[in-house]
Amino acid sequence: MANNEEVFKKVISHAKEFGFVFPSSEIYDGLSATYDYAQNGVELKNNIKEYWWMAMVQMHENIVGLDAAIFMHPTVWKASGHVDAFNDPLIDNKDSKKRYRADVLVEEHIAKIEDKNNKDVEKGKKRFGDAFDEEQFRATNPNVLRRLEEIKGIEDRLQKVQNENDLDGFKQLIEDLGIVCPVSGSKNWTEVRQFNLMFGTELGSVAGDAAKIYLRPETAQGIFVNYLNVQKTGRMKLPFGIAQIGKAFRNEIVARQFIFRMREFEQMEMQYFIKPGSQKEWYEYWKEARMKWHKALGFGDDHYRFHDHLKLAHYADAAADIEFKFPFGFKELEGIHSRTDFDLSQHEEYSGKKLRYFDPETNESYVPYVLETSIGLDRMFLAILSTAFKEEQLEDGSERVVLNIPPALAPVKAAILPLVKKDGLPEKAREIMDVLKFDHNCQYEEKDTIGKRYRRQDAIGTPYCITVDHQTLEDNTVTIRERDSMEQERVAISELERIIGDRVSMKKLLMA
Ligand code: GAP
Repeated sequence: MANNEEVFKKVISHAKEFGFVFPSSEIYDGLSATYDYAQNGVELKNNIKEYWWMAMVQMHENIVGLDAAIFMHPTVWKASGHVDAFNDPLIDNKDSKKRYRADVLVEEHIAKIEDKNNKDVEKGKKRFGDAFDEEQFRATNPNVLRRLEEIKGIEDRLQKVQNENDLDGFKQLIEDLGIVCPVSGSKNWTEVRQFNLMFGTELGSVAGDAAKIYLRPETAQGIFVNYLNVQKTGRMKLPFGIAQIGKAFRNEIVARQFIFRMREFEQMEMQYFIKPGSQKEWYEYWKEARMKWHKALGFGDDHYRFHDHLKLAHYADAAADIEFKFPFGFKELEGIHSRTDFDLSQHEEYSGKKLRYFDPETNESYVPYVLETSIGLDRMFLAILSTAFKEEQLEDGSERVVLNIPPALAPVKAAILPLVKKDGLPEKAREIMDVLKFDHNCQYEEKDTIGKRYRRQDAIGTPYCITVDHQTLEDNTVTIRERDSMEQERVAISELERIIGDRVSMKKLLMA
């Protein structure tokens, strides 16, 4: 684990050094859990958005986009349940004065028990080599089974205290498990309290409750309140979806792990409006479709897994996360939620407006059910950056840092490099730049040796370096160096637009 922590630290400093992510307001020593996306970061982020938008909207005739305001009528959040139920259970350690999420303390305790099982498996593998059958070991080893039983007991209690909002029971659970504060090492805990995660502010110059509004904690509600507008103006028939990318805000208590958990972040959400009763079928469909979208990036199937929710949010009848293997372990990247008719029904009730769908096939009118896919854009960014980051030892003994970002998502698609800064090579390189820049984000670089320039482009994940040399002046050919293999091929300048265009196209990802 120490090793992975080391790698994670390197990723964070690389993100800063190479213009991906900066701490917010850094000249004032930053603001906790808030970050700015820099020149390369914003390109990567825009490309992730494009990949998502194309997969969800452009590839589906029955899904359309939306860009709703961040501020919404305050009653929206009453109706959605966020005012009353969007809480985290908090507990303080009286000695260290540190504050924790009570559920996270319990989950970390469970993770430690799981770790013990994993260690036993590792020991078995070392001892028995190829003859070791992990599946059988996990199914029969008494220590492993005893720990699984223990975990199950803890999970059941956790689920019970969460569902019943039993704060005393929560504290009792933490005490019974003997959980100590990671800072002070003591068990001197306060009571568990609920803390609402929404940021509130005031509208205009009027103070007081009447003007209290919230920064949206999810983008989804902007979709729900526009459901009928879109359905009518777009003449949409069920099933149909509305997709949206935008900022969301949560006053997270434990905000940490770089851009993994922030107070201001971006979500890419899609609400799929369906006939009541068909939710199980669509739940399975979207779980599979979203997993496919992730796996198409080629980071390896072992980086993903589903995790079914133990505690269902107030609006859901089924929910699963797609978890990703971050450097700090498997963590939630995306949620797939079967939200029933909860939100639309609540908005009907609170607004007094009918939000029904008239089904021309059955001549019935009903409130649609909703299947939601919700992914954090910043988490997706971190998943890509941390997995793409590689420190490589080359054959000639030198080292390089390279980001193996899938070409379609890379911030810069091609760097155009004159071998030397004279003999007419810069002019020729500029000619190429002036053609490619219409389709791709390209960089022109003439400073330093070609080797140094290749390294700089590797470090920001540029998949192709196009080098203009003296031969170019004779026969109008250039070399293309591929980032991962570092192999070079000579091609005609007239072929460049097509070659680069094909290789960095989103199409490959979308057709995978
Ligand atoms: N509309 C449903 C919803 O908001 P969620 O599971 O609370 O569900 C969806 O959030 C996704 O948003 C998460 O899977 C995660 O990727 C991202 N997310 C949530 N809180 C975040 C935070 N504080 N910082 C960064 N991303 C966050």
